[in-house]
Amino acid sequence: MPKVNEFVNINTLDKEAKKDYFDRHTPFIYCDNDAKKGEKFIVKIKIGDQYPHPDDFDHFIKYVQLWNNETLLGETYFTAGTMGSQPGNVEVDFYIVPQRKMKLTAMSYCTKHGLWQSQAKEISVE
Ligand SMILES: [Fe+2]
Repeated sequence: MPKVNEFVNINTLDKEAKKDYFDRHTPFIYCDNDAKKGEKFIVKIKIGDQYPHPDDFDHFIKYVQLWNNETLLGETYFTAGTMGSQPGNVEVDFYIVPQRKMKLTAMSYCTKHGLWQSQAKEISVE
């Protein structure tokens, strides 16, 4: 079983290198707090908030997943060079059609530093 790196608030970290390391791997979920049942709902996932992640042939963000509780809703795969072989923040927009309230979590996988989990975000659906 792989280790899953859970969300850390980088304001609680003292060293700049540590803030960079945690932030650049962490998926962040951007979407409304409320959704309408049966209507398309957009969920943006961005990897890293303040620090960019490398896009090298042996070190890049390989996939991004969106989960609702224990159900995988979608995933997107990347190859090295997708971000122009420059440091950046991978972004993915998922369009989902919710039926009931959701608890969303995003995961990202770095080819060098493993699995990273976002904070969970609860969405009410009416
Ligand atoms: Fe990495």
